Amino acid sequence: MSTPAVKLRPLEATDLGLLVTWRNDADNRGFFFSHAPLTHSGQSRWYESYLGKRDAILFVVCTAEGTPVGTVGLDNIDHKNQKAEFGRLLIGEPQFRQKGYGMIALRETLRYGFDELNLNRIYLQVFRDNSAAISLYKKVGFVDEGTLRSDHYSRGAWRDVLNMGLLRDEWEQTR
Ligand SMILES: CC(C)(COP(=O)(O)OP(=O)(O)OC[C@H]1O[C@@H](n2cnc3c(N)ncnc32)[C@H](O)[C@@H]1OP(=O)(O)O)[C@@H](O)C(=O)NCCC(=O)NCCS
Repeated sequence: MSTPAVKLRPLEATDLGLLVTWRNDADNRGFFFSHAPLTHSGQSRWYESYLGKRDAILFVVCTAEGTPVGTVGLDNIDHKNQKAEFGRLLIGEPQFRQKGYGMIALRETLRYGFDELNLNRIYLQVFRDNSAAISLYKKVGFVDEGTLRSDHYSRGAWRDVLNMGLLRDEWEQTR
């Protein structure tokens, strides 16, 4: 598989409709902790509060031609402790999955966090049954930091949540 050219750009108001479509897809919703359907008005309110935040960044993942295909971001950016939470990774357009976009979006976000925000640690939470995402995270060096057993009730079952973390030193070794 050749590596696709991928661009990350900050979220804009005109992206909100697409985000609602992607996140409301029945399959996609099952991968996220907050799986209630999004509304356009709710998303607009969320965007207004997001614009005022200094501890979160959401990128839109685009093809080389600028077509939006997904999202990725950092939340809870904590400059004192030089850490942030990785999240919102979604390749929302199914035809763009398994083509390398997720991997590049993840790597670019890590590069932004470690190089530009000068973070020391990036951590995340993922459903333990999300084998595609866990495989992806392990490939860039995230390590298992423990399981929260039956942490969420979703898709009609109690689901375990895995904590994963990546330190700057570990990232430097694999980049
Ligand atoms: C997880 C996700 C972002 C991966 O994006 P992607 O663009 O399809 O992934 P890539 O093509 O870059 O693949 C990178 C690696 O991820 C893993 N992976 C991706 N899709 C996979 C699948 N269907 N099954 C198993 N592993 C998979 C593999 O390790 C793959 O490496 P490989 O190609 O050498 O086997 C995408 O499947 C997605 O949007 N899933 C739904 C949302 C989600 O689960 N987000 C994470 C929430 S924590």
